Amino acid sequence: MANVTFTSPAMSKDVTVYATAGDCRTLLKVAQRNRIPVHFECQNGECGSCAIRVEVLANREPMGVHLTEKEKKVLRLAGKISKEQIAAAETTDLPPPWRLACQFIVRNEDILVTF
Ligand code: FES
Repeated sequence: MANVTFTSPAMSKDVTVYATAGDCRTLLKVAQRNRIPVHFECQNGECGSCAIRVEVLANREPMGVHLTEKEKKVLRLAGKISKEQIAAAETTDLPPPWRLACQFIVRNEDILVTF
């Protein structure tokens, strides 16, 4: 299980939901299931409208991540990620702060999602 806390000026208060890690559900699906108004359009990693900021909570190191080529390209075009952050993600497996909700798979770590 993972606690996913959503925060946004679009909501009157923060909302924390439980997500089952490892079921391959994207963060966007978790948001939709819980009626969290994360913006989206394509749901396929192509438009960038679902860009979110993700922080790992509880003083844990973030889990390693493999960014998809789509995610790298779209976040780069949107100005959310630098070439250096892409290189760091590829060499150290450390995730960048901005992700695409429709590409991010929830795992067994508590996260704060800002949108
Ligand atoms: S909804 Fe288009 S990139 Fe996520």
